[in-house]
Amino acid sequence: MKLAQILFSQGFGTRRACEGLVAGGYVAIDGVLHDDPSEDLAPEGLVLNVEGRDWPVHLKALVALNKPAGYECSKKPKHHPSVYSLLPAPLLRRDVQAVGRLDEDTTGLLLFTDDGQLLHRWTSPRHHVPKVYDASCKHPVTPEQFARLLAGVVLLDEPEPVRALAAEPWDGAAGGLHGIRLTLAEGKYHQVKRMLAAVGNRVEALHRSRFGKLALPADLAPGAWCWLPGTHVVAD
Ligand code: URA
Repeated sequence: MKLAQILFSQGFGTRRACEGLVAGGYVAIDGVLHDDPSEDLAPEGLVLNVEGRDWPVHLKALVALNKPAGYECSKKPKHHPSVYSLLPAPLLRRDVQAVGRLDEDTTGLLLFTDDGQLLHRWTSPRHHVPKVYDASCKHPVTPEQFARLLAGVVLLDEPEPVRALAAEPWDGAAGGLHGIRLTLAEGKYHQVKRMLAAVGNRVEALHRSRFGKLALPADLAPGAWCWLPGTHVVAD
């Protein structure tokens, strides 16, 4: 693949802009300047350095964001900044999409990809990718509440009861709050908050720690993003 074409595939601008970046001497590989836009290179495993920044080539993008509170999962946010504002320009040019949504005040693992098939698989209601949420609740979560969450609770406007795949105590809740870790197969609107409300509790803070097989990387700071191994990683 031609070097300028590789840059184009990574979201570094128009074909012409990418040729300009290469010919202008802004692209290095392994510390060596590469200024021929039509140089043929194998893209797999290549780490470009573009204008001083390393960029590992991924023909399909899959990244994890540690979503902070106060960001909306929308390209046209209404009241808060968009989660997309936390991603770099090349990923935005590639039109990566969030894999599902988290509420504005929910924190934690949010995936983005430009792989349409993967996006479909992970967001389709038929695919039941398990998602793990750590909820900090206002009231102690009673054994009865655990049992009801596992057995299924009826939510307004939902035809069928929804149940957690797993529900266990979680000891990470902030002072004065009570933790529960829930694994859900669906991704219904406000699902965790509505399920806890339905059993008589109230979610004060919510964090997603896993999506399918993928866990939020422990060293990923709130607001930061990182590459994930590849879109061949199957989450379900
Ligand atoms: N359930 C919720 O209530 N909110 C989220 O953001 C995700 C799941």
